[in-house]
Amino acid sequence: MEQKIFLITGGSSGLGLAIAEKLSREPDNVVISTSRSQKKIQRALDQNPSLKGKVLFLKGDVSKPDDCKKIKEQIESRFGKLHGLVNNAGVLTKGGMEMVTYEQWKFNLDINLNGPYLLTQTLLPLLKKAKGASVVNVSSIASVRPGSSVAYSVSKAGLDMLTEFLAGDLGPYKIRVNSINPGLVKTNIHLDNQIVEDKEAYSNLLENAIPRYPIGRIGEPEDIASLAVFLLSDQAEWITGSIIKIDGGAAVFNDLIPPK
Ligand SMILES: NC(=O)c1ccc[n+]([C@@H]2O[C@H](COP(=O)([O-])OP(=O)(O)OC[C@H]3O[C@@H](n4cnc5c(N)ncnc54)[C@H](OP(=O)(O)O)[C@@H]3O)[C@@H](O)[C@H]2O)c1
Repeated sequence: MEQKIFLITGGSSGLGLAIAEKLSREPDNVVISTSRSQKKIQRALDQNPSLKGKVLFLKGDVSKPDDCKKIKEQIESRFGKLHGLVNNAGVLTKGGMEMVTYEQWKFNLDINLNGPYLLTQTLLPLLKKAKGASVVNVSSIASVRPGSSVAYSVSKAGLDMLTEFLAGDLGPYKIRVNSINPGLVKTNIHLDNQIVEDKEAYSNLLENAIPRYPIGRIGEPEDIASLAVFLLSDQAEWITGSIIKIDGGAAVFNDLIPPK
């Protein structure tokens, strides 16, 4: 089998970690990940010892041009090409216009939208060389229905349009681009970004959310990893420009009639 090179941004936690872990189970895959904090990288490796030697972590911020250039140089010098890119790194600031400052607005857009643009553009020469690469953007159901954060929802709506635009733009290079739009998944994002004040409040949030999910549970990172790995594979060869909800059915409810 041909060796395949994958880059997952934000692989030190949550969905990115689950995607990196799932990809790394295939011996022919080279899995690279990036995140800003060495502490989170160490935590991921300590909690998942099987990743040691299987996932190569690079420290880098996807919203910084110099960091993206360095990531590209390291992949280029060692592997020469890139078969799959998952733009997964993301942040979330709670609130509407009266709460979210302009600085917070820019912070969300910089990481959730400008980051995927910048990194995909920087890595494009390596994606072209793979002759059949796949880009997966991790968006959210908040992109199609206003959620709890104006900055987050708008950044993800922009990301969906970037997906559709790039599918047309990069299709001639046989590069596929798709969005995955999860509902609520249990990760560190809500506590790390102060969406809830403590673990108890988070447990309550998860518990209270369940009735909104027809399947009867909220998501697990592995749910998202399965779809991401499929979209990265040749089995998804004819799928591009798709915005795919993965939300246990949550988006089929409207808010006018309480579900239960
Ligand atoms: N969990 C959910 O309910 C949910 C639902 C819908 C969509 N999503 C989306 O799924 C993606 C992953 O979220 P998650 O829930 O797994 O969050 P998470 O557990 O907080 O993980 C986020 C990861 O992104 C990294 N990251 C953040 N900013 C970065 C930057 N500028 N450059 C590089 N890495 C960065 C973090 O590491 P560092 O802090 O070390 O950089 C971390 O590894 C996000 O795009 C999120 O919007 C999540």
